[in-house]
Amino acid sequence: MQTDILIIGSGAAGLTLALRSADFAKVTVLSKSDLREGATFYAQGGIAAVLDEVDSIESHVEDTLNAGVGLCNSSVVEYMVSRGAEVVKWLVDQGVPFTTKKSKQENKKTQTNKPLELDSLHLTQEGGHTHRRIIHATDATGKAVFETLRNRAVAHKNITLIEECTAVDLVTQEKPNKRRKCVGLYVLNQTTSRVEVIRAKFIALATGGASKTYLYTSNPDGASGDGIAMAWRAGCRVGNMEFNQFHPTCLFHPHAKSFLISEALRGEGATLELSDGTRFMSKFDERAELAPRDIVARAIDHEMKRLGCDCVYLNISHREPSFITQHFPNIYKRCLEFGIDITEHRIPVVPAAHYTCGGVMINERGETDIQNLYAIGETSCSGLHGANRMASNSLLECFVVAFGAASSISDRINKVDLPENLPAWDESYATSIDDEILVSHNWDEIRRLMWNFVGIVRSSKRLKMAERRIGVLREEIRDYYRRNKVTNDNLELRNIALVAELIINCALHRRESRGLHYTIDYPESLKETKDTVLRPIKSKPTAKS
Ligand code: FAD
Ligand code: SIN
Repeated sequence: MQTDILIIGSGAAGLTLALRSADFAKVTVLSKSDLREGATFYAQGGIAAVLDEVDSIESHVEDTLNAGVGLCNSSVVEYMVSRGAEVVKWLVDQGVPFTTKKSKQENKKTQTNKPLELDSLHLTQEGGHTHRRIIHATDATGKAVFETLRNRAVAHKNITLIEECTAVDLVTQEKPNKRRKCVGLYVLNQTTSRVEVIRAKFIALATGGASKTYLYTSNPDGASGDGIAMAWRAGCRVGNMEFNQFHPTCLFHPHAKSFLISEALRGEGATLELSDGTRFMSKFDERAELAPRDIVARAIDHEMKRLGCDCVYLNISHREPSFITQHFPNIYKRCLEFGIDITEHRIPVVPAAHYTCGGVMINERGETDIQNLYAIGETSCSGLHGANRMASNSLLECFVVAFGAASSISDRINKVDLPENLPAWDESYATSIDDEILVSHNWDEIRRLMWNFVGIVRSSKRLKMAERRIGVLREEIRDYYRRNKVTNDNLELRNIALVAELIINCALHRRESRGLHYTIDYPESLKETKDTVLRPIKSKPTAKS
């Protein structure tokens, strides 16, 4: 199989790049499960962008820099933030049904096919933002964005969307004194269980984050950091992996699978309380419930450990029931399924792994260290988030970098030839599939290890213990991988093990506390700010390594 642009991932980043490139190239988009199964579909709060005249680019930049605790790249922040209105305009033009300032009732009465005006969009607020600047579609922004972009992509004659295909590894080539270049991809077709090779002029990793590395996470099952692992194996630098973000408020219920309770609830006045009703956030930060996420998650963790309790509570029941059901219809419905009426009762919440601030090192156009290879969206590390991502800046980054990648590819497409035939996947030495228990056991062990030893509060001793254990697990997994045919499960295991090792390595390198990385051995921040950038030892790309 061959294509001009091969995009791995059908979330906000992947679909945006596809739509922005399809007028000048043939594009193929892969997803390892159903197209919708990425974080994008589940995004709740919204997209940060400056649309209000009382707001300003400078203010959004400043808030982002503050949330990132000195580690953001300020020129990248300025670049991204100043493109907010442009991407929202594009999304409106695609037909995303954002919530407007008029109430729902009024909207229904006046519904026309006219595109929304930017100044008619309702703006909500989230932690770290000093203005209302979150554009949203009630509390299910991701679903509205995904469905609109997916429908556009399905209708485009130059875009092919393929489900149930798992990218295994990138195929690269290197000539003396030339940059390594990416020429294709090995892909597991889950229907035939065969690994195929796809040739492409350009390949983009849009594979999302790696929060599944942790036992408790708000992320969907596929968030196993595949893009980060593939890029690392192919020879890209990976940075700032110690900054895995924990969202402060996920529903605490045995069957809720860490369902997210959007920060927008706190933006609209919800308070955090202990079981006796005491509010505690102002003890930790003057911005109280609207402090950035690292501070709120650490405060909750502190209070839970201090009191030995299983959760804290989020309370929005003082707002009018109609306001709650209108602004948060999905959260209201989901909580009700678990017997919690949020218009009357408090919501039990705990922090859970939510977002990977680090990733494959890129520039503003998504270009990586390898020629013709791009990384966009959560899989990348652009410099926007620093030591802690500010709420709703992630979707913004997905769109802005996808726009940049499309323009970079358009500038270069006429100078790049389709690669010649590539070596087929070699599995001749693999037996069928044995010891599947090793896969499920190691999957659980890694995620528990990361939660307990590399979580919200860290120590050098625990990080060292984690380093030793992940070393043993990685060796076992490598051996298993060599002997067995690939499956989606053993590919994901191989990837979370590698990503866990990268997180631990980065965390051990950082001898200070900053943003999401807090260690009791170095509680202060250093004066000098520095990204943690890991470089792979040069490896020779092979058909199965
Ligand atoms: P994703 O949307 O995660 O898509 C990844 C894609 O890659 C999927 O299609 C997946 O199938 C595919 N894939 C992965 N590995 C492979 C492989 N090996 N082979 C083939 N395909 C593969 N951010 C905000 O800015 N605002 C919000 O309101 C917000 N709310 C959130 C709520 C929740 C519950 C979660 C989990 C996250 C939220 N975030 C939010 C973060 C944001 O949603 C994500 O960072 C963003 O959607 C990531 O988009 P993406 O395109 O990079 O990846
Ligand atoms: C939320 O709605 O709280 C999630 C927003 C985000 O992750 O940016």
